[in-house]
Amino acid sequence: MTLMPQPTTPDSPALRARGLRKRYGAEQALDGFDLEIRRGQVHGLLGPNGAGKTTAVRCLTTLTDLDDGHAEIDGIDVRRHPARVRERIGLVGQFHAVDEALTAQQNLVLFARLSGLSKANARRRASELLASFELTDAASRAVSGFSGGMRRRLDIAASLVLTPAILFLDEPTTGLDPRGRATVWQAVREIAAAGTTVLLTTQYLDEADQLADRISVMDHGRVVAEGTPAALKRRLGGDRVAVVIADAARLDEAAELVGRTVGSAASVDHDTRTVTVEVDDGQKALAPIVRALDGAGLTVDDLALRRPTLDEVFLHLTGPGGQSASDPTAASTPPLHETQEAR
Ligand SMILES: Nc1ncnc2c1ncn2[C@@H]1O[C@H](COP(=O)(O)OP(=O)(O)OP(=O)(O)O)[C@@H](O)[C@H]1O
Ligand SMILES: [Mg+2]
Repeated sequence: MTLMPQPTTPDSPALRARGLRKRYGAEQALDGFDLEIRRGQVHGLLGPNGAGKTTAVRCLTTLTDLDDGHAEIDGIDVRRHPARVRERIGLVGQFHAVDEALTAQQNLVLFARLSGLSKANARRRASELLASFELTDAASRAVSGFSGGMRRRLDIAASLVLTPAILFLDEPTTGLDPRGRATVWQAVREIAAAGTTVLLTTQYLDEADQLADRISVMDHGRVVAEGTPAALKRRLGGDRVAVVIADAARLDEAAELVGRTVGSAASVDHDTRTVTVEVDDGQKALAPIVRALDGAGLTVDDLALRRPTLDEVFLHLTGPGGQSASDPTAASTPPLHETQEAR
């Protein structure tokens, strides 16, 4: 009853989009949007308000017509065969689709009937979904009394009435408390483990970091960076070593020494007496830095190794002065090298 549709061309990606364009009045909501998702992966589409995430989801799920570009899902052309595409996808929109006045069970039966299941099969599928989303106890309560997390889980359950080949989740955890987010994350992991490809939009960096195999960062209607969470973090440079020097008067000397040791320029923050330097491999750099400082009689108060957070990557790529603002060619940034990915 819930067999996943067989791919038409098994080696095609689950989703492929090239040069998508969509304009609303003066607003170019999609401006050459590219995306490719391999089967079975969770892909995070990360971007600030108005970046075009919902527009991309609506166009890919056939709800909105594209002005230009090519999109295919499971090898099927989205613009030419929207009905066939719809058979293969599930969508959880940014706003709730379930009916407040109905119970959880009634909502799921309704969705199942709309999807073409017989009455008996619809009831059976509703029970299965209520169980797998831990809503069985709440099955006969009206949705109006549900918490945000419960509603979201019901929304997601409703999108899985027929197991989709690819599930679109538009900001599934916006507005949820940490517990609600955790239950939705768990649901997404289980859906992916069962073989469904997931495209998830989010404004939360930690969410993309937690759930996604790969992330596309979008801004102004186009993708400005793409890669694994780890590769995106590396893109800001490597690890950072921060050394707090005891003697404020010798900071510049320390920076010069640290820079010479690792072969790149170190920066100095006089307020915190900190020398910071970017290194390829933080673990390897620590010992030589400490030895050099020790050899020069410089006392180290503190030493820290850290990687850039996804927040920093995001600000770097989309913020004022970021690539997308200052460099119109940023969208054609070549994909990250596989050697980097494999590290
Ligand atoms: N139906 C519409 N009519 C007019 N303009 C629209 C419409 N839908 C989107 N836009 C505009 O297109 C741009 C992209 O909007 P979109 O909703 O896709 O962004 P988003 O990344 O989903 O943002 P959010 O994080 O706020 O959900 C915005 O400037 C928005 O105002
Ligand atoms: Mg949106």
